[in-house]
Amino acid sequence: MRFDVITLFPELFAPFLVCGVTRRAYEAGLVEVRLWNPRDFASGNYRRVDDRPFGGGPGMVLMAEPLTLCLESVWAERAVSGAAAVPTVLFSPVGQVLNHADVERWSASSGAVLICGRYEGLDQRFIDTFVDHQISLGDFVLSGGEIAAMALLDAVARLQPGVLNDEGSHQMDSFNLALDGLLDCPHYTRPEAWRDQLVPQALMSGNHAHIERWRREQRLALSQRQRPELIQQARLAGHLSASDEAFLADLIENPERDA
Ligand code: ADE
Repeated sequence: MRFDVITLFPELFAPFLVCGVTRRAYEAGLVEVRLWNPRDFASGNYRRVDDRPFGGGPGMVLMAEPLTLCLESVWAERAVSGAAAVPTVLFSPVGQVLNHADVERWSASSGAVLICGRYEGLDQRFIDTFVDHQISLGDFVLSGGEIAAMALLDAVARLQPGVLNDEGSHQMDSFNLALDGLLDCPHYTRPEAWRDQLVPQALMSGNHAHIERWRREQRLALSQRQRPELIQQARLAGHLSASDEAFLADLIENPERDA
């Protein structure tokens, strides 16, 4: 899979591509990343890529032409190297908030052209003409789409086979359907006693069924407390057993129980 990233700050991506899971996926050729700067496609001595908004108001708007020339070069280069035609994604606070199901879809795709917005945004005519999807990282505003693009690349990279040390580990992630879309349970490691705090007894029991039940209840309690909509989704999908429901009913009666 190949991602072409259009950004005014390609240098932000360099450290990201030489560390951790993204590096592993990148070096193994599982996730190819190419960086493009629209400034290289701007004309004039100043290679200007932005201008003031029509109608007035604060900030600057990225102009359609340098972005278009950059995008057309990406397409031409992809065609020459035999890369698949892919959708164009813009990172923006007005996009749809990225979730686990989206990441799974992108991780099984041929890639995308990722456009990182900056300043007040992009000329809407460019968006209307070329952008297939707008993705947001959440209900807050970043100073640009670069961090959002890196978030997507990281999440996609770690789902590629062979990238994580333990193949099955992403199945145990929060939001994974293998765990019914719930939040992940807490984890503990050595030492068994740390500054007066002990590891929960259930994890030391050696009884596999007992440990699994404890983990399930922790996932249910954490999801109920932090993200009750995940419990509702699991319920509607028929993922909650009678004992899950009994645990949740008891939790609502006795909210201190999982503390
Ligand atoms: N650019 C600015 N804010 C953003 C957000 N919340 N998500 C994605 N891209 C952005």
